[in-house]
Amino acid sequence: MQAPPAQKQWSVANQMSPQLIEVKSLSKDYSRLKVLQSVSFSLKENETLGLFGISGSGKTTIGRSLMLLEKPDSGEILFRGKDLLKMNKKEISLVRPKLQMIFQHPETSLNPKMKVQDSIAEPLIIHKNLSREEIHSEMKRLMRLVGLRPEHLERYPHQLSGGEIQRAILARIISLEPKFIVADEPTSMLDASVQAQILRLMMKLQNDTEVTYLFISHDLDVLRAVCDRIAYIEAGSIKSIEMNEEKRSWAEQVRDSE
Ligand SMILES: Nc1ncnc2c1ncn2[C@@H]1O[C@H](COP(=O)(O)OP(=O)(O)OP(=O)(O)O)[C@@H](O)[C@H]1O
Ligand SMILES: [Mg+2]
Repeated sequence: MQAPPAQKQWSVANQMSPQLIEVKSLSKDYSRLKVLQSVSFSLKENETLGLFGISGSGKTTIGRSLMLLEKPDSGEILFRGKDLLKMNKKEISLVRPKLQMIFQHPETSLNPKMKVQDSIAEPLIIHKNLSREEIHSEMKRLMRLVGLRPEHLERYPHQLSGGEIQRAILARIISLEPKFIVADEPTSMLDASVQAQILRLMMKLQNDTEVTYLFISHDLDVLRAVCDRIAYIEAGSIKSIEMNEEKRSWAEQVRDSE
């Protein structure tokens, strides 16, 4: 029997790609609570690693630590072999745009007082040296890429559906051409059909850009659909990391939904 394309992709990615992220013995306490206990794992370029665990097990704390939004008490976070925790401000500012996070509470990701176009233009203005016209056409390109229409740019976040908000957040994030995205429960607030659309979009973006995902979820079915491997976390420590044979490629997911 012929191996499914996703699996082929996985084995190629795992044999040939260098490690993008290596997390080594990350530990963190909040007063007496041991939130992370010597957490170690690595991610290769273009890979999706799932992080599964019950509420309070430390998933978001890991994600936020990798984005340098939390300071671990000890451990290393290597990005292409260099420890993010030891980088100086200049080095961080160069790496920072390449590391992006989709936050667990999507409503906190877009400024409610800003039109979608201003939220999407913001990182382009800060990080890219583009003219007004270039920003405008780049925004239109990004909107097409995530399946939104140009008129969505004129709206405020409260005028978008949950799925449209996630698409707008993805447009903002991918404008910076990230190498690594932590997606913290990106679809848990959405109903099943919209959830599937967003998962397909994320996989398509991975197909197009070779971005690496750490995909956090308490829903194993979601993780099995999109992850190459799944890490199981309990009370701040990784119990096992297993290969996922059930991953379906973006193309297969599209076919299944037709
Ligand atoms: N800033 C903080 N101060 C004190 N305790 C914290 C802080 N942030 C997280 N915690 C605690 O750390 C533990 C892990 O939290 P975390 O948000 O990482 O869990 P999670 O696995 O993402 O849970 P969920 O599935 O509910 O999102 C929890 O017990 C939480 O209460
Ligand atoms: Mg969480």
